[in-house]
Amino acid sequence: MTATAAITDIPDLLATLQRARQTILPKRLAEPGPDAAQLAQILDAAASAPDHGQLLPWRFIVVPGAVRGLLAEQFAQALQERDASALPEQVEQAREKAFRSPCLLLLVVDAARGDPEVDLAERLLSAGCAVQNLLLMATALGFGSALTSGKALKAEGLRRLFDLKPSDHALCFVSLGTAHSRKPARLRPQATEFISHLTPEGVVPGFAPMQLNPLESP
Ligand SMILES: Cc1cc2nc3c(=O)[nH]c(=O)nc-3n(C[C@H](O)[C@H](O)[C@H](O)COP(=O)(O)O)c2cc1C
Repeated sequence: MTATAAITDIPDLLATLQRARQTILPKRLAEPGPDAAQLAQILDAAASAPDHGQLLPWRFIVVPGAVRGLLAEQFAQALQERDASALPEQVEQAREKAFRSPCLLLLVVDAARGDPEVDLAERLLSAGCAVQNLLLMATALGFGSALTSGKALKAEGLRRLFDLKPSDHALCFVSLGTAHSRKPARLRPQATEFISHLTPEGVVPGFAPMQLNPLESP
C-alpha cells in the first residue's frame, strides 16, 4: 500500500472503528481478555488524550482476577449500607458483578493533582478523552468493552480498597473482554441534533450557511 492510499483510507478507517465501538455489558464479556502486551497497547492509547497543563489528572487501576473477591465484598457492603433491607439474593448479585469480564479497570480522576487553576471539569474532559482512546484501541484489537458506574463508586469501603485520596473521584469501571453476544448498534444522533452556530441575532440551530471565507463577517 502506498503512503497516499494509506492516508486517504484513514478517515474511513477511523469512522469504521468509531461505529464499531458499542457498549457490551460486562456479563456478555468472556475470556479471552487482552494479554499483557495488548493491555499495554490499550493503555498507551489513553496517553494521547489532551491534558491541559500536562497534569495527568486521571489514572487506571487494574483489578486482577485474584483480587476480585475484595471488590465483591465492597459491592455487597455498599448495597447493604444503602439498603438495609436488601435480600440475600440481591447482595449476592451485587457481589457477583465483581467477577464479570476478564479485564477490569477503575478510572480515577484527581481533582487536586498539579495546577489548582485547572478545574475539575477540564480534568474530567481529559479523562473522557483518555477512556475513549482506550476503548477505540480495545475495539481495534477486537475486544468488546463497557463503562459502568453505580452508587458503590462513592462508598467509603470501596474508596479505601483503592487507596483513594479525598481529592480522587472514582468515575467508572472499564470492562474489556471477548463479546459473546452483542445487541444491534444503537441509532446515533445526527450532527444536526447537536450543532448550532452563532449569528449577530444569537445562536441558531444547525450548521452555518456555507461561506467562501468562514471568517468573513456575515
Ligand atoms: C461514565 C459512564 C458510565 C456508564 N455506566 C453505565 C452503567 O452503569 N450501566 C450501563 O448499562 N451502562 C453504563 N454506561 C454506558 C452507557 O449507557 C452507554 O454508553 C450508552 O447506552 C450508549 O451506548 P453505546 O456505548 O453502545 O454507544 C456508562 C457510560 C458512561 C460514559
